[in-house]
Amino acid sequence: MATASVTKAQADKPIQPSAPVEVSAPTRREFLYYIWGASIALLLGEAVAGLVWFALPRFKAGQFGGIFTYEGSDIPDPDAAPLNIPSGRFWLSNPSTEGFVALYGVCTHLGCLPKWVDTNNRFECPCHGSKYELDGKYIEGPAPRSLDRFKTTVTFEDGSTASTNDAGDPIPLNGKKILKVDINTGARIRRSGQG
Ligand code: FES
Repeated sequence: MATASVTKAQADKPIQPSAPVEVSAPTRREFLYYIWGASIALLLGEAVAGLVWFALPRFKAGQFGGIFTYEGSDIPDPDAAPLNIPSGRFWLSNPSTEGFVALYGVCTHLGCLPKWVDTNNRFECPCHGSKYELDGKYIEGPAPRSLDRFKTTVTFEDGSTASTNDAGDPIPLNGKKILKVDINTGARIRRSGQG
């Protein structure tokens, strides 16, 4: 029966050094191939990294430029004073005749921040006096157009949803209860006129 044990004679036998392995220097052509391959790999790596960076969301939720989410209980009652969200630079507004709308809180004249004035029931800009209604419509002053709006999606308690159209019109609530609203501050809808 064969055995794997090493005999004493085998163990005493000196180990012969193996012949040295000769590594030849790359030829000029091989060297150019290596450089070319490394360059291609680097370019491909940069392209993939660029694609990944582009695909990642630029803004986190709750950061201006990203999406802000609120529960139905956060939404002002119909015709109540709008709710200011300074971190998102917008107002949550709920005019009963039109519906829910998220207004960009920057004056369309020269960029000051209009304030809601309860006694006059309107937004008033402290800089040059432009005034806007609860839904952001221009009333008077040097502003060239109504307040801009943000694209919004409303989810109702019955599971249905409604989103802002391309014109930025308020979302009619029709007496339905809101479960949550998502306001996309990366999608500002510029109002074209004073309507
Ligand atoms: S910046 Fe608002 S009226 Fe001029």
